[in-house]
Amino acid sequence: MLIKFFVRLLVFGENVYNTFMRKVKIIGTGSYVPSRVLTNQDLEKMVETSDEWIVTRTGMKERRLAAEGEFTSDMGIAAAKRALEAANLSPDQIDLILCATITPDHVFPSTACLIQAQLKMAHAAAVDIQAACTGYLYAIGMARAFVEAGIYKNVLVIASEKLSSIVNYKDRNTCILFGDGAAACVVSAEGQGLWIRDVTLGADGEQSQLLILPAGGSRMPTSSKTVEDGSHFLHMEGKEVFKHAVRRMETAAKESIDRAQIKEEEITWLIPHQANMRIIESLAKRFDLPIEKVFLTIHKYGNTSASSLGIALDELVREKPLAAGDHILLAAFGAGLTWGASVLTHE
Ligand code: ACO
Repeated sequence: MLIKFFVRLLVFGENVYNTFMRKVKIIGTGSYVPSRVLTNQDLEKMVETSDEWIVTRTGMKERRLAAEGEFTSDMGIAAAKRALEAANLSPDQIDLILCATITPDHVFPSTACLIQAQLKMAHAAAVDIQAACTGYLYAIGMARAFVEAGIYKNVLVIASEKLSSIVNYKDRNTCILFGDGAAACVVSAEGQGLWIRDVTLGADGEQSQLLILPAGGSRMPTSSKTVEDGSHFLHMEGKEVFKHAVRRMETAAKESIDRAQIKEEEITWLIPHQANMRIIESLAKRFDLPIEKVFLTIHKYGNTSASSLGIALDELVREKPLAAGDHILLAAFGAGLTWGASVLTHE
């Protein structure tokens, strides 16, 4: 009897919470990729590899590279302008800028601050977020929390990466995988868009050595030695990262689906981190999703780290007609290790 009473109280409490909490949405998206294309054939001339190896092992055919003099902030600004336009907001309506990146213009000041200045968002707070390829999801999770709590009204989430600045183009294990690009979205409780039903995040710092930029921080400051031995480039134990990827994304996605209170078979689109086609196919299989329901950009942009999910989401929104009630499942993993998933519902 007493247990029943408490269960009822809990259910009542949850209903009250759901009724009165702000419904936080993505009300506009944008993205940007540089025009310079690096094809598999170009890479064949740079390292010992082949188009056939790259396509069968990764699913990648091309990736984009920033122009000389084009930086992470520039790409972020281009994506942000498009997201603001889509959200029908002016820069002075943004209260907070969250910029997810592992390739900031500088260690400090933050790239978010550089973007704030360029876009003349004088009253917006600005900060960078570093969660590697999961950065876009971490940023959306934080933006949602700020809006839900009523602290900020409109948060501009940006993900921008100039991975070409940390990739060793003599290392065939990594240089074939990465590209440059940026994405952005506006998170708000006002306006129509994609309701952020849930964001589930995770991390395992025990695996930090699997994917790392060893030099340039306080542990190994830049020196002629770090340049000589290539420690200023990204290093990855690809095979090991691969093993974690599918498992972590699957678990996070299942948890997010549960928390969003939908069923797996209701997913309209899966947007996975675009790191490797074999990882994507394994993930889709675990959710019984035909590949036609998976939105892909991997063949043309490769892995753009934090920007990967955001670029795909923007292209999906612009290219595919979404109906009210369609559910989009996002899933990512990356250095840290970090991982996460989110369910968005089109309203
Ligand atoms: N061309 C030809 N051969 C190559 C190339 C290449 N570009 N790269 C590696 N090889 C060789 C290797 O040297 C190896 O040869 P060996 O057997 O003679 O030693 C052989 O191919 C197999 O190498 P593996 O590393 O075992 O290849 P694998 O099938 O694991 O594919 C890859 C490598 C594509 C990197 C894969 O492991 C992968 O995608 N891992 C996950 C990476 C990832 O998703 N990272 C995401 C996070 S990114 C972030 O957070 C910034």
